Amino acid sequence: MKCRRCAETAVVQLRSHNSAFCKPCFLLFFRRAVERAIDRDRMFTRDDHVLVAVSGGKDSLALWDVLHDLGYRTEGLYLGLGIGDYSAESERKAMRFALSRGLKLRVLALGEEAGSFTISEATSTTRRPPCSACGTFKRHYFDQAAAAGGFDVLATGHNLDDEAARLLGNVLHWQLAYLAKQQPVLTPTHPRFVRKVRPLYRTSELESATYAFLRGIDYVVEECPNSHGATQLVYKDLMNRLEQRMPGSKLMFVTDFLKHGHPLFADATAHPDLGECATCGMPAAGERCGYCRLVSEIERRRAQAVTYSRA
Ligand code: AMP
Ligand code: FES
Ligand code: ZN
Repeated sequence: MKCRRCAETAVVQLRSHNSAFCKPCFLLFFRRAVERAIDRDRMFTRDDHVLVAVSGGKDSLALWDVLHDLGYRTEGLYLGLGIGDYSAESERKAMRFALSRGLKLRVLALGEEAGSFTISEATSTTRRPPCSACGTFKRHYFDQAAAAGGFDVLATGHNLDDEAARLLGNVLHWQLAYLAKQQPVLTPTHPRFVRKVRPLYRTSELESATYAFLRGIDYVVEECPNSHGATQLVYKDLMNRLEQRMPGSKLMFVTDFLKHGHPLFADATAHPDLGECATCGMPAAGERCGYCRLVSEIERRRAQAVTYSRA
């Protein structure tokens, strides 16, 4: 197998692009793909200050590596979720990556921030699925850190596989409001929100894993233990089977949706006027934001449990 660009021996085959690349040409291909997505969707420029949410996994570390390499102004944000060894390991990897490149990483930890709870505290008291509480916590701390730090943009490492699986789930259940929001760039709907972008939405998990491997990035390989059996994994598996038979399906599904489908759903969701949460000051549709409502539910249930155990 020969590299499509330079005819040297290829180290990676990308069936979705009907291509194969040697190491230097693949690194160039990946960097260019990310840069093109940033420019095409007007995500940010080199003047913007970008907060990169890094989980310690291959996608977000590959993204931070590329952005730094391309000369963007970045800082990282790691949120400790308190999920045992998985969180400890991912924090170590994120910190080591930042240290090795002299980059600034902000570290927050659930359970240590004032008034916060860990995922397991949230799930054991409210009986919500872990990923639901986790999503609420992440959104809140990401938004808050981006606003407090005066950043212009918040970037996450969601890749093509994540986007295709999310799109499949949204289409399967005809989640019109979610389809309206499925975009690689979310424009802020309140002055305390910053623009949210997904520069890897066109690059697959295989591509970011290959990039991270070839760059020698030490990332956490294990998946979150709470993700076992998650519906998202069923959608990913289905998309992988389709991709196997019809290479390029994921990319076509996502990009054609954005081109032809998304405009049809864009008005499916009413944008409520957002005020400020009475408790934390972040944007909220009602009196309090979703995060503060969840926190007070946990506090209420914990107080009830203490009362019952004393009775
Ligand atoms: P996930 O929701 O786990 O698929 O992660 C999607 C993206 O969210 C990652 O690529 C990161 O950019 C970001 N992310 C997930 N977990 C964390 C975390 N604990 N700290 C910071 N960013 C995270
Ligand atoms: Fe949120 Fe696993 S990463 S529950
Ligand atoms: Zn709040």
